Amino acid sequence: MTKDEMIEALNGDLADEFARAIQYINHAALITGARFGSIQKELLVHATEEMQHATTLADQVAFLGGKPNTAVDAIATSDDSEEMLRQDLAGEQAAVARYKIRIRDAMAMGEYGLARVLQDILVMEEEHVKDLENALGL
Ligand SMILES: [Fe+2]
Ligand SMILES: [Fe+2]
Repeated sequence: MTKDEMIEALNGDLADEFARAIQYINHAALITGARFGSIQKELLVHATEEMQHATTLADQVAFLGGKPNTAVDAIATSDDSEEMLRQDLAGEQAAVARYKIRIRDAMAMGEYGLARVLQDILVMEEEHVKDLENALGL
C-alpha cells in the first residue's frame, strides 16, 4: 500500500467518523422508552468519542502529507428505537473491521505511530460494540 492509498483510506474512515457522530446525536434525541434511558446518555458519549477519532484521523492524514476531507458518510435513522440501535451497532461493527485492516496496512508500511493511534481507536470501537450489544440484549 502506498502513502497516497493510506491517505485515501483514512479519509474514508474520517467521513465515517463524522457520520457516526451525527447519527449518535440524532439517535440520542429521538430514542424513547424507559429501557433505553441509560444507552441514550451513552450514545452522546459515543458521539463525543467519534469526534475525537475524527480529530485524530484528520491529524494523521495531514501528518502523511494529505488533505483531511470534510465529506460525511451516509447516516442511518429510523422511527423505531431498537432499529436505531441496530443501525448504530452495524456502524460500529463495520468500523472495527475497517480499523483492523488499517492497522495491518500501517504496520506493513512501517507506520508504527499511525498503527498505535489506530489501535487506540479500535479499542474504543470495540467498547462501542459492547455497549450497543448490551443495550439490545445481545
Ligand atoms: Fe470512532
Ligand atoms: Fe464508535
